[in-house]
Amino acid sequence: MTQINSEDEKKLVKSVNSLITLLMLVVVTMFALVLWMLFKPTESEISNEQIAEQMAKMDKETQLGSLDNSSDLWTAPSDSEIPSGPAGEEIKYGRDLIARTAEFLGPKGSVAKLTNGMNCQNCHLNAGTAPYGNNYSAVASTYPKFRGRSGTTETIFKRIGDCFERSLNGKAPDSTSKEMKAMAAYIKWLGKDVKKGEKPKGSGLYEVPFLTRAADPVKGKAIYEAKCQSCHQADGAGMMNDKGNAYTYPPLWGKNSYNSGAGLYRMSRFAGYVRANMPLGATYSSPQLTNEEAWDVAAFVNSQDRPNKDLSKDWPDISKKNIDHPFGPYVDPFKESQHKFGPFGEIKAFYDAMKDSKKKG
Ligand code: HEC
Ligand code: HEC
Repeated sequence: MTQINSEDEKKLVKSVNSLITLLMLVVVTMFALVLWMLFKPTESEISNEQIAEQMAKMDKETQLGSLDNSSDLWTAPSDSEIPSGPAGEEIKYGRDLIARTAEFLGPKGSVAKLTNGMNCQNCHLNAGTAPYGNNYSAVASTYPKFRGRSGTTETIFKRIGDCFERSLNGKAPDSTSKEMKAMAAYIKWLGKDVKKGEKPKGSGLYEVPFLTRAADPVKGKAIYEAKCQSCHQADGAGMMNDKGNAYTYPPLWGKNSYNSGAGLYRMSRFAGYVRANMPLGATYSSPQLTNEEAWDVAAFVNSQDRPNKDLSKDWPDISKKNIDHPFGPYVDPFKESQHKFGPFGEIKAFYDAMKDSKKKG
């Protein structure tokens, strides 16, 4: 038997004790670390610094001048590429329907009476071929595509139908109808040279940099009176042609305008459209409105009366709402009025920070 004297025993007990304490400390620290990783700042706890950081990344350009000097903006295929025979006839009919929708499908339409009298082309300029004129260059390449608004994967038919029900505040022709097939055939033909999944430069609408303030309907009214009213009229109702079967100047609000579920009712879509295309004659390469004017006139027009759409089926997952979707509820802490008029930078920054922290976590 070995005899341990009490001094040695005490030392041993002491070092074992400190070893245990050390081990416990390590375990506790690791546990705390794991806890922290699990419950790190989430959605609702994005800090002001994180938001400021994201906002600093955003462009604050406010000047006129070409919106894009690239020489490789998308252009539509030329007419000579339209096949001969029935396929070509279908494409041409589709183009006519998009350019002169009202003649065929408006309140005095020759085929059916389905819409408010606007033409697709009023918003999809030159039959959906104008750079930054809401063109269709990226439709064939990106549809079918999942959209948060419907919570489904949408075909081109469904997407065209959406504009019938919202922008044209009417009914969509059946997906088996000659008209629907022709419009889809034309849109597919337009995008035939765009690779699957790609969005060419100049596709869709120009993204106007955000203002650091809310867009102002009062300033917008003055811009409207000075630069828009001569064509779209003081009451926003536009002006019909002599035959009374189509608009020379389409309405911007009132009973024959796009409804509250339409794309243009979102400030960013309206501002993007007018920044690059209005007053008539403006283009992305020689715009006539500054960023501020585009946002403010959007705020004025989208504060006027227009048809309401029942949106209760939209956005089954509210966390997917566009930041400028003007109707709550939202998963973020910002008010409905800020989602309508801005400032949008901090809302965008909130969602960017949310995505960032999901990625890092
Ligand atoms: C009042 C304006 C307006 C009218 C009229 C209109 N649209 Fe649209 N359309 C929009 C806006 C705004 C968008 C969304 C653009 C965006 O999200 O950037 C859109 C999107 C689309 C898209 C999807 C584009 C893409 O790249 O995802 C298709 C297809 C489309 N419209 C077809 C039509 C057709 C066909 C008609 C006529 C029956 C029509 N639109 C009439 C405003 C309009
Ligand atoms: C010289 C006449 C003219 C002026 C001025 C003008 N527009 Fe337009 N606007 C048109 C025409 C024409 C169209 C339809 C284009 C087409 O079908 O090719 C249109 C289309 C639109 C559309 C899409 C269709 C709709 O009715 O919703 C919007 C939005 C719009 N204009 C806003 C404005 C704003 C904002 C201003 C002022 C900054 C403005 N316009 C100034 C003639 C004009």
